[in-house]
Amino acid sequence: MKEQLREIRNAAESALAAVNTMQEIDELRVKYLGKKGELTALLKQMGSLSPEERPVMGQLVNEAKAALETLIGEKTAELKARATEEKLKAETLDITMPGKVSKSGKLHPLNTVLNDMIDIFQSMGFDVVDGPEVETDHYNFECLNVPADHPARDMQDTFYLGENLLLRTQTSAAQIRTMETRKPPIRVICPGRVFRADEVDATHSPVFHQIEGLVVDKGITMCDLKGVLEQFAHEIYGKDTKVKFRPSFFPFTEPSVEVDVSCSECGGKGCRVCKGAGWIEILGAGMVHPKVLKSCGIDPEEYSGFAFGIGLDRLTTTRYKISDIRLLFENDKRFLDQF
Ligand code: DAH
Repeated sequence: MKEQLREIRNAAESALAAVNTMQEIDELRVKYLGKKGELTALLKQMGSLSPEERPVMGQLVNEAKAALETLIGEKTAELKARATEEKLKAETLDITMPGKVSKSGKLHPLNTVLNDMIDIFQSMGFDVVDGPEVETDHYNFECLNVPADHPARDMQDTFYLGENLLLRTQTSAAQIRTMETRKPPIRVICPGRVFRADEVDATHSPVFHQIEGLVVDKGITMCDLKGVLEQFAHEIYGKDTKVKFRPSFFPFTEPSVEVDVSCSECGGKGCRVCKGAGWIEILGAGMVHPKVLKSCGIDPEEYSGFAFGIGLDRLTTTRYKISDIRLLFENDKRFLDQF
């Protein structure tokens, strides 16, 4: 039996020395140490031994078992280490390779300027409201004191979608919607796209952007209008910017003004950006016409207000010295990548 044990042990040891995979180790474990394994079979034969021989043989078998288990453990560790090493070799990183640059998107210049404007007006307590781009004649003209056949309609070449439906020509329509749904005190701005059937050129596009502003409360005067718009101009163009209020006409405001700022490029001397004028017109404004207040159910004896409409595109082209408004709408990546 001792001879048999030695043979089993030798065979197991040389088989283990030659293994190359975990699967082979498992197979050998079953073959020698498993329930039906060779060493277990040997133990089962011990019944035929004399009582003196039994413990001696038992100890020898157990020693052999322990030795095999140790060997299996060592071999397993060795194979694992080898596998790790091979994996590391296969996955070698070349840290000198140039990295992959992932390009992040950025804001369109119109959105950058719009966000700045929203920040400025929000800091003065204005809410941002929205209005539909497809409007009715009622909101876009009638309630703004521009009845049918009024000559002021010629100021805005309109895209009609039907007898009473049109693409809004001005964000001023949002004034009416706001006054219909909110009670004074009102302080809102409404940014958005507007549409006019203008001839397209470097300064005209059939679609452009306005930011409408409206303030209605008790005791609002032209001083409030001047204060808010001056503050806005200084925030957006810088403290040294001069602001000029020129008398003008809009059917929905009385009195009406247009606001110019000194050219930020030449400081007023005249240059390409301001077309030699030294001034850049940025908005129209005025005190809300009593008729407009009345058409929205607000008593003009009790309340007064001012409104303004700022051209976002003009502000953007002058800030970035963009010579042609059409560039803002063409989405040419070579142009947009510059911002
Ligand atoms: N809606 C005018 C335009 O498109 C701009 C404007 C002028 C808006 C005066 C106003 C305003 O709210 O009070 O030309």
